[in-house]
Amino acid sequence: GDSKRITVIPGDGIGPEVIEPALAVLDVLALGVRLDVLDQVNAETYLSTGSALSPADLDRIRTSEATLLGAVGDPRLGDTAYVRSVLTTLRSELDLYANYRPVRLWHDRLSPLRDDTRRAIDCVIVRENTEGLYSGVGGSTRTGSPQEIAIDVDLNTHHGVSRILDFAFSVARRSVCVVDKANAVRNGGQLWQRCWHEAVERHPQFDTSHLYVDAAAMKLVTDPTAFDVIVTNNSYGDILSDLTAALAGGLGVAASANLNPATRQGLFEPVHGSAPDIAGTGIANPFAAILSAALLIEHLGHAEEADAVRRAVAAAVEAGRVTPDLGGSLSTKEVGAVVLAELRQPNAGRTRGRR
Ligand code: NAD
Ligand code: IPM
Ligand code: MN
Repeated sequence: GDSKRITVIPGDGIGPEVIEPALAVLDVLALGVRLDVLDQVNAETYLSTGSALSPADLDRIRTSEATLLGAVGDPRLGDTAYVRSVLTTLRSELDLYANYRPVRLWHDRLSPLRDDTRRAIDCVIVRENTEGLYSGVGGSTRTGSPQEIAIDVDLNTHHGVSRILDFAFSVARRSVCVVDKANAVRNGGQLWQRCWHEAVERHPQFDTSHLYVDAAAMKLVTDPTAFDVIVTNNSYGDILSDLTAALAGGLGVAASANLNPATRQGLFEPVHGSAPDIAGTGIANPFAAILSAALLIEHLGHAEEADAVRRAVAAAVEAGRVTPDLGGSLSTKEVGAVVLAELRQPNAGRTRGRR
């Protein structure tokens, strides 16, 4: 039929565990989407064939409406090319240049900060997703010897920087803060600064500011409420989005979207990885995957349903019906069931709630 096809990559470790409740959410919303689950895109396949993502897989992803990914990563593969061969390949092959990572404090109780007037984080990290240190340009000489020299090029283009800055303005509510290290990293720093001044001229209606990445890390901890949209390069965005996740309760609640607004391609995934330390124990927090599914649902044009999913998560947090990482005692499956019950009958669980 003409129902929309969504590709799903459960992946490794806790990936499949958190994807299951996220798919149950998609199912209960009855959006008329068809799921195309790529169970073979994982570390097992990489271990046995040397490649996890075949050209055929890539085609199925490319031609689908959107993709939902759990996590990839396997301790047996260490820091080999595996994780990059999936994530970085998908991001660059589909030209998903904008990595949208929203952070919001779902409940006061989840903040590690004492000052309750300053901790209510509600911001978005906009991470450039195809360039920078992830460009793949570089090499090493005298490899394996004490004389080894390894080079990874921090590649920045006027086109790449300008389009991510414009994307940041397109999702801003109040303000945009650009984060770089232009005081130390010369050429790319100057390019970011020049593109930034051009972008600010194109979007005069927003408050704007600039911070060096070290100062940004500090200010995010001391005054997270100061930020709306933070836009930065690939590696600073990677690091700052784990930091902001921690300010909002941890990686268990951090969702993300990899987007190309021009082609409308989208890959939705938790910020977290495969968490080998807790994989198989049944306690992984499914909220990051469920909230990533909410971003996917919104991308498909169902904003109300996406909000309903977020309200269901907020209700579960409010009631303390959460996994151990958030201070609760429920399992992944139990939390999934709480969210489904909330979606079917909002607020029904309220009276049973506990703080
Ligand atoms: P990680 O995000 O997997 O785990 C970091 C810590 O956070 C661990 O203590 C883990 O238990 C905890 N955590 C993460 N998600 C959680 C959840 N949903 N609920 C409760 N606790 C959670 O990062 P890592 O340990 O650095 O990486 C593990 C593997 O995952 C590596 O192979 C790495 O390359 C890969 N990785 C993949 C992705 C991705 O697929 N998008 C992202 C990051 C890391
Ligand atoms: C993320 C991850 C990946 C990244 C790794 C696993 C390659 O940390 O999605 O944040 O750095 O982009
Ligand atoms: Mn990361």
